[in-house]
Amino acid sequence: MLTDGRGVKGGNWTDNNCDPENATEKFEVTEKTRHYLPQDAAHSVTYQMELPPRPKLFDFHGVSMTNYFTDNWDNVQNFQARPDDILIATYPKAGTTWVSYILDLLYFGQTAPERQTPIFEKVPFLELLIPLYPPGVEVLDNLTTSPRLIKTHLPVQLLPKSFWEQNCRIVYMARNAKDNAVSYFHFDRMNQAQPEPGDWNNFLQRFMDGKMVFGSWYDHVTGWWEKKQTHSKILYLFYEDMVEDTGRELDRLCSFLGLSTSAEEKERVRGGVQFDNMKKNSMANYSTDPVMDFKISPFMRKGKVGDWKNHFTVAQSEQFDEDYKKKMKNTQLRFRTTI
Ligand code: PPS
Repeated sequence: MLTDGRGVKGGNWTDNNCDPENATEKFEVTEKTRHYLPQDAAHSVTYQMELPPRPKLFDFHGVSMTNYFTDNWDNVQNFQARPDDILIATYPKAGTTWVSYILDLLYFGQTAPERQTPIFEKVPFLELLIPLYPPGVEVLDNLTTSPRLIKTHLPVQLLPKSFWEQNCRIVYMARNAKDNAVSYFHFDRMNQAQPEPGDWNNFLQRFMDGKMVFGSWYDHVTGWWEKKQTHSKILYLFYEDMVEDTGRELDRLCSFLGLSTSAEEKERVRGGVQFDNMKKNSMANYSTDPVMDFKISPFMRKGKVGDWKNHFTVAQSEQFDEDYKKKMKNTQLRFRTTI
């Protein structure tokens, strides 16, 4: 619900003691956010928006989800992929935006002016249906650039079948579970469209139980890994490899995509997608996204391998490792938690 700022509840939901169920959020209407608003509302500078309460998790075909990713389900499942579509698939917080921006620069880096748009608009989020944003499927249907770069967090078994029928290229990026969990925790703190994270200990237990939006990390990374064994159009990347040597991973990407990008251009892309550069780039850092509160935590937070050591206690780490061994005992998939 939008109001002109008068007579709405004033709550400061960046305050840890506030009640998020009754919180309101202020955001600036800029050229970038204006089009999210109803036309008759976009005439003044600052709006106070009462966000819906944080969504609740529920079981959806065996995967924990919120309604923001299931409300458009029929349209998502009937989505018509094109053979040249490129899908970027990840578990949340595994480096989706990084890969998205790399691909955007590789394909459209030379056509700068019309690409001066936030990354979440250039690489639409297939299953998203949330107030303030146009539905992902609709944005994709209206996208005029080619190839279409498409973001999804869906586990492999829920991907719309047309991606398989059209034999689209899929870039999957995975990140080690401990850093992934830490990043997800801070994201859920700052994103009012995510379920209430609770405290870290509680959150970590839920992560281990697979009670996260888009389900179990363990099922997600292994599901896509198994699929990759029989499907040649999936490139499976690791966040840790990308941090270790972005240039090498760029070469792998170009070769998978059949791109003959020059060494000079690759170097330009490599520079543009470095953490510090993306962090200050308003087209890549989500600073124009109205549901995120950077006062709680920035989207581009640390971008490191091993930040989990600043969050896990020794006891939490031991318990996590023990549980991890059991959950991952049937897969050859290996992650690095340090580099
Ligand atoms: S989302 O919301 O699921 O799309 O988030 P996602 O983009 O997958 O993940 C965000 C984390 O990726 C980090 N990131 C990077 N790390 C290193 N280098 C670059 N260029 C980069 N771009 C994004 C981002 O900082 C988040 O990780 P954390 O650990 O929270 O910093």
